[in-house]
Amino acid sequence: MAIFSLTAPVLAIETSCDETACAILSPQGEVLAETVHTQSGHAALGGVVPEIAARAHLALLPEIVSETLTKSGLSLREIGAFAACTGPGLIGGLIVGSNYAKGLAIAMDRPFIAVNHIEAHALTARLPGVSAEQIKFPYLLLLVSGGHCQCVAVRGVGNYEKLGGTIDDAAGEAFDKVAKMLGLGWPGGPALEKLAQEGRADAVALPRPLLGRAGCDFSFSGLKTAVARQIASYGMEALPRAFAADIAASFQRCVCDVMTDRARHALAMLPDALSIVVAGGVAANGTIRTALEKVASEAGIAFVAPPLRLCTDNATMVGWAAIETIEAYAAAGRPLDDGIPTAPRPRWPLTEVSPPGATESGAAVLSEVSV
Ligand code: KG4
Ligand code: ZN
Repeated sequence: MAIFSLTAPVLAIETSCDETACAILSPQGEVLAETVHTQSGHAALGGVVPEIAARAHLALLPEIVSETLTKSGLSLREIGAFAACTGPGLIGGLIVGSNYAKGLAIAMDRPFIAVNHIEAHALTARLPGVSAEQIKFPYLLLLVSGGHCQCVAVRGVGNYEKLGGTIDDAAGEAFDKVAKMLGLGWPGGPALEKLAQEGRADAVALPRPLLGRAGCDFSFSGLKTAVARQIASYGMEALPRAFAADIAASFQRCVCDVMTDRARHALAMLPDALSIVVAGGVAANGTIRTALEKVASEAGIAFVAPPLRLCTDNATMVGWAAIETIEAYAAAGRPLDDGIPTAPRPRWPLTEVSPPGATESGAAVLSEVSV
């Protein structure tokens, strides 16, 4: 296959968890249309049920794609490439989304680009318009969501290093579990943040796991257990609201302290970082955002928090990662179909996304179709 260059818009699909999303971007990264549908059925069950999510993606996707095409004013014939997140994530959803995009790619005789979900979060900060000037490599990504919690050195397209990550729960997962213990709904992060405004952050003594420890790993399970113990002392009695608010505020402060400490350590591991970028649902938390902003300003570097709709799961980030990948392959003089299967992968570490500049086979992109 010849070197591919994108001259028409890219259509991207994201289905790795409970968002069914589609976006269409111009070759320069202008968002022409985007649709994100967050599946609602999971809240009552207290979390995302993989089988239900996969079936919902299957039912929703045709409508979501056609709605997005209508909003863009384009027809399928005018799309230059199709992209989908093929991992990491829930395998059922990944199979649905990637096969849908592959089917369209075959039918329209266009390339299919397999996008790593974490890579898509990592590159979103470079989407035109997110910051006044496109941020440059290298930068530190803090990905903090319900499913992910990691510090990543982003050195270039396809060039990532995980500096540290959680050894048990993800940060959002900890927020959700503590919120559940406090009788708040799911997802718990936003409700817990709201309740915390009524409480005192120094009221309840809770641990700050791994604080000050070398490296930038995270752990939240001890903190969660400490909260459970505090709550257990009330037995079957309803928790007084003031106490629940104190717990929420104290828990949030602990997470915040841990996160800023880990971010400082991660920066020490990537001393040439030009900015700190946050992504994931937990980046919506005002206290955490402000604290991380302070870490960046102390280090004299920029802080980039993409707008919330781009921090949480969406297909625009998948489309943008596909554009960056296509450009990087073209710049390296490599064709897109370099021989690695595009099968969906529930686990797909960033270290297995190979740089487009590599000379050996290892591209995570191709137009060949495999399931
Ligand atoms: O990125 P996201 O929408 O989905 C994935 O997990 O992939 O993140 C959702 C997570 C949930 O755990 C939710 O509780 C958390 O982000 N979250 C928050 C806030 N808003 C959402 N956590 C703390 N404070 C918030 N304001
Ligand atoms: Zn995500």
